[in-house]
Amino acid sequence: MKGLRFESSGEGCTLLLGEKIGTLLEPGDVIALRGELGAGKTLLVRGIARGLGLPPSVPVTSPTFTIINEYPAHLHLCHMDLYRISEPDEMDTLPWQESLFGNGVAAIEWPERLGGLLPAERIEIEIRITGDETRSIRISIRGKKAGERTAKWVEELQDIKSAENCVRGGCPKTKSQ
Ligand SMILES: Nc1ncnc2c1ncn2[C@@H]1O[C@H](COP(=O)(O)OP(=O)(O)OP(=O)(O)O)[C@@H](O)[C@H]1O
Ligand SMILES: [Mg+2]
Repeated sequence: MKGLRFESSGEGCTLLLGEKIGTLLEPGDVIALRGELGAGKTLLVRGIARGLGLPPSVPVTSPTFTIINEYPAHLHLCHMDLYRISEPDEMDTLPWQESLFGNGVAAIEWPERLGGLLPAERIEIEIRITGDETRSIRISIRGKKAGERTAKWVEELQDIKSAENCVRGGCPKTKSQ
């Protein structure tokens, strides 16, 4: 599967990557965020929210207990953390359908909990912990416009390699796979 890989060398890099991703999202996008506890999924969503234009004064926190947090950005952002869902049936009580199939953007932590309910057309992001401060982040865009969008993202994400505002520990190294 064609995609992108980043080596994040600190929180600031992951935030910056998220922010850039936020600027590239389109209405209806669903992002499946994978990675173990503490990988940096919520941190990446915080960056995405900023990229979608959510003001820094609005805190983006983990929806661990609320399961769904929503933010009124340029595109409505629905951030879900399904860690506590053990059966797809438990989703029946949550307003997730609207979030997943509306004109906003959904970012879902622990998407495996959705089983077959997870849309096939989606953006897969996997974060692997490679050290205390380092993360390996893989992105793959799936669906009808996957090839076209991947090419655009590769191009658009190149410039964060040299961004000066990556606050801690240098900037992510980008390469297409
Ligand atoms: N390069 C990095 N990118 C992201 N997070 C990092 C990085 N380096 C260190 N961290 C730390 O890793 C933690 C990531 O926490 P975060 O809540 O985003 O994880 P999560 O994947 O959402 O976990 P959970 O599954 O429990 O919700 C934070 O404490 C953050 O400071
Ligand atoms: Mg989280």
